[in-house]
Parts: sequence; structure tokens; C-alpha cells
Amino acid sequence: MITIDGPAGAGKSTVASEMARRLGYRLIDTGALYRGIAWRVRRAGVVPEDAPALGRLLEETTVELKDGAVLVDGRDVTGEIRTPEIGEFTSRLSTLASVRDKVMPIQRRLAAAGGAVLEGRDTGSVVCPDAEVKFYLDAAPEVRALRRLRELQGRGIAADPQAVRSEILRRDRQDMERALAPLVVPEGATVIDSTEKSVEEVVGLMLNVVERYGCCTPS
Ligand code: DC
Repeated sequence: MITIDGPAGAGKSTVASEMARRLGYRLIDTGALYRGIAWRVRRAGVVPEDAPALGRLLEETTVELKDGAVLVDGRDVTGEIRTPEIGEFTSRLSTLASVRDKVMPIQRRLAAAGGAVLEGRDTGSVVCPDAEVKFYLDAAPEVRALRRLRELQGRGIAADPQAVRSEILRRDRQDMERALAPLVVPEGATVIDSTEKSVEEVVGLMLNVVERYGCCTPS
């Protein structure tokens, strides 16, 4: 089991999917599950403060990762959950115990068989504290904002650079200061700063660490 945690825009998704591909491991994008739940809550018009309505909705909602897609109640929402609005709403919702209690068992079930790369905010600290190899991927806020901007532009979503930067900083605060499973450097994690590194360089460093543990053979 390999975990990669870190703040928004550090490059976790790109690096995690490349690691999974090279190692022949499954990729578990834990944020996508939270985003799927957030999408459903938003669509139902339930406000996070309405705990009873939220509880009922969580009970009747199913969210799963299947062949790289995110399914909510069987519907493929992979494209719809990748907007800045859903990102911000997800960060808010994920501070709630009811939401984390819903998502965490799904993540643990997915990871149970091993041979997986998990990426998110608490995968090495809370979801899989026993993972053999843990990483914490970071980058300067300006660089993370620029990457996020390019990613949005690449998907044809118009975005204001200043707004993207403020959103990243707000997400950092929300994810790091929350009481439950805040974003932290997990114990035993290798910290990698990707500010001035390419994807290939980061993946290379990670594969070196993985090889040292001798738990898998990179192809
Ligand atoms: O990685 P992402 O941008 O898709 O994550 C969206 C939000 O989901 C993030 O701001 C906080 C929450 N999240 C979490 O609380 N725990 C995780 N393991 C993954 C994501």
C-alpha cells in the first residue's frame, strides 16, 4: 500500500496515477469519493448545516470508483465533480463527521486488498496508517495555483488567476485547520516538494523510495 497526501494543486493526482501505472497498482482517488458525495448533496439542495437531512441523504446515497470513473447512485459523474465550486463545497462538507464516516469505510474497503496507490488528504495519517510507503507531496502556493489554473483552462473552464490563488489558500486553511483528519505530514512519510520538479522527477524520487522498501518491482 502506498499513500500520497498533500494540499490542493500539489500534483497528487498526476503523480499517483503515473505511480499506479508504472507499478501495475490500482489508483484510489479518495478526494473523488468526497467530491461525489458533495455533488449529490448539492444536487439535492441540502445545506451542510441541516444534519438530519444530510444524514438521510448520506444513508441512501452510494458512491463508488469503477475503472477510473466516479459513480454516484450508479450515475457517472466523473466530469461534473471537477469544478472549482464542487472542490470548495467538498472541502466544506469533508469537515463533517457524518460525511467522513460515510466515505472512510469505502476507502478502506477499496484499499484492503493492497497493491494500491491512495491519494488524498488523510490517506497515510488516518485511512491507511499501516501503509508500507507514505509520501507527502507539497509545492509553493503560487505554483499550485498556476497548475490549477492551467488544468482548468485545459478543460475549457475560464478562471481568474487571482480567484484561483485565493481558492487554493482557502482550501489549504480549511483542510489543515479542520478538527477531523486534518491535512498533516503523516508519521513516517517522505516529504517531496514539487515546486521546481517535473512529474517525471517526482515519480522517479518516489519509485526510488518504493524500491528501497522492496515491496514492488517498478516496470
Ligand atoms: O483532492 P481533491 O481536490 O479532489 O479533494 C477535494 C476535497 O476533499 C479536499 O479539499 C478535502 C476533501 N478530502 C478529504 O477530506 N480527505 C481526503 N482523503 C481527500 C479529500
